[in-house]
Amino acid sequence: MILIKLGGSVITDKSKEYTFKPRVVKRLLDEIKEGTKNERFVIVHGGGSFGHPGAHRYGFNTKAPGQLAQGTAEVQYQMRILNNLVLDMMIKADLWGVSIPGGLISIFDEGKLKEIKTDILNELLNLGTIPVAFGDVAIDKTWSVTICSGDDLMLGMAHLAKKAIFVTDVDGIYKEGKVCELFTEDMLPLNSDDIPSSHDRIDVTGGMKDKTNKMLDIASHCPSFIVNGTVEGRLKKLLQEDTTVCTEVRA
Ligand code: IPE
Repeated sequence: MILIKLGGSVITDKSKEYTFKPRVVKRLLDEIKEGTKNERFVIVHGGGSFGHPGAHRYGFNTKAPGQLAQGTAEVQYQMRILNNLVLDMMIKADLWGVSIPGGLISIFDEGKLKEIKTDILNELLNLGTIPVAFGDVAIDKTWSVTICSGDDLMLGMAHLAKKAIFVTDVDGIYKEGKVCELFTEDMLPLNSDDIPSSHDRIDVTGGMKDKTNKMLDIASHCPSFIVNGTVEGRLKKLLQEDTTVCTEVRA
């Protein structure tokens, strides 16, 4: 199974609240379809300008989240709208997507992922469907609720995958102004100069540094890649040939 995360920076306009990018999503789904052929895959998507504004407003990724009922309702509402928009694009691409809210399969403690239940995922894959899991409000044992990000879902599912791909709006992980073909732990830390300025604007889930650390964790289970989904054809090439402009993160 291949894990593919469609980042919020690609499927939404992060500078405008609640703005979906239907054409980009349709193209990426077509690239996935052509690139995966008989391979099984799981799609994960992030929150972008649907998930992050509410999560930020209610402090949902902190130890003191506020207005629990209202905040949960607002973040869940927006994330489910975004998920429905993605599912609608899947129908248009002739793909049988099935929605999996991240909060229903995950448990956290102090903002750290403790467990992802993956039984339902296997059942859905066996049926021939394409599970579409997404970032959500999740149970936190100490803080009561927290944000389950798409990256957390990728990490929790990585042990089932043979490859994990993060589709974002950057060419890869940068070091001294250049995209690294290969990134390993000894290349940490990332300097702020290495993080594209468009990034980390309203990101409540830690931005590029956190993503890099999660990708290093994922790489202990399967090869892990970050690729720019705003450039046509790169995702398809990575799926078909394992090479394109991108960064492979290796443990
Ligand atoms: C965030 O998920 C989910 C919510 C804010 C509810 P991600 O952190 O994976 O989202 P993106 O991909 O960075 O936008």
